[in-house]
Amino acid sequence: MVTGKTIAERDAAPSTLHGGYLPTPVSRLEHLFPGSSTPIHAKLDQLQLSGSTKERTAGFLLDQLERTGALQAGGTVVESTSGNLGMALARQCTLRGYTFVAVVDERANVAACQTIEAYGGRLERVETPSDGNRLRARVDRVAQLLADDPGAVTTHQYANPANPAAHAHSTMPELVEALGAPPDHLYVAMSTTGTVLGCQQAITAAGWHTRLVGVDAEGSALFGGEPGERKLPGLGAGFQTALSERAHPDAVVRVSEADMVTGCRLLARREGLLAGASTGAIVAAIGRDLPRLGAHESVAMLIHDGGAAYLPTVFDDGWVTAEIAGGADALAAVHDVNPFSGRP
Ligand SMILES: Cc1ncc(COP(=O)(O)O)c(C=O)c1O
Repeated sequence: MVTGKTIAERDAAPSTLHGGYLPTPVSRLEHLFPGSSTPIHAKLDQLQLSGSTKERTAGFLLDQLERTGALQAGGTVVESTSGNLGMALARQCTLRGYTFVAVVDERANVAACQTIEAYGGRLERVETPSDGNRLRARVDRVAQLLADDPGAVTTHQYANPANPAAHAHSTMPELVEALGAPPDHLYVAMSTTGTVLGCQQAITAAGWHTRLVGVDAEGSALFGGEPGERKLPGLGAGFQTALSERAHPDAVVRVSEADMVTGCRLLARREGLLAGASTGAIVAAIGRDLPRLGAHESVAMLIHDGGAAYLPTVFDDGWVTAEIAGGADALAAVHDVNPFSGRP
């Protein structure tokens, strides 16, 4: 198309697009659960430039630190992150001229750590403490780094209201606009609970009827859960986060790691969407509820991140069989029409 503008003029606006989060498309999943006529739509946030929903969170967190003056030019940002927020912050800190330090634990995804470093971020690794609470160990290391460097600030994702604000002001409005109406049921995975709280805030503010389902991992301490060993990163938390005290999803569904694997594999093979463990958990949660939902009730979900980083775990048969309780059954379950129906 001839616009009458030079390439430099045409590029002026698009060239700034990579600086923050992108509005992502919403797509109908027609093959996920064969025979079900309940419409399921997914918001494809794996298309964010750092590969996850956390791109939105990173932008809102940094904007807030800049607005309040807490983060000065050339300053340092420290955050406890098991991967996705770290990748997003590393990317956006580099673009904005800040140093980024990611505090990670042994469960952190190797590819995520490499990506943080590729964007120019620095890794600070903590070992698993004797009580197994890696999240607490990371939070403690952040506090120590801040004490050591008075010029450093943290985005404090577990308690910062800018975290849910990202989803109240972008994720949820975008989703409703794309669907043309609020969905009857919305499934999001939980870790800090920023996403679920932000969606809740948007739903409450607009008076939408949407039933909000928070999807958690078995072994997560959120919402009174019994803390336990978890091998897959992305969802769940080792303690009750400050944000979660304000989050009141209509339902909390806890999913086993075996079901996360099955959910990820169904999404890949039936919909051609390669997603991470927390999205697999969402697929499992929807599958459980589906027999109880009417054909006219609409379901929406978030794809929180892409699956490439999970190829050596979730998508590796040998790893799943060796490391995940019920792993062999999880692999076989992909042949069932809905492997999750009948789960409590
Ligand atoms: C992979 C993944 N799972 C789940 C979530 C939800 O996490 P939170 O509760 O911290 O918003 C996110 C957030 O971006 C994510 O990237």
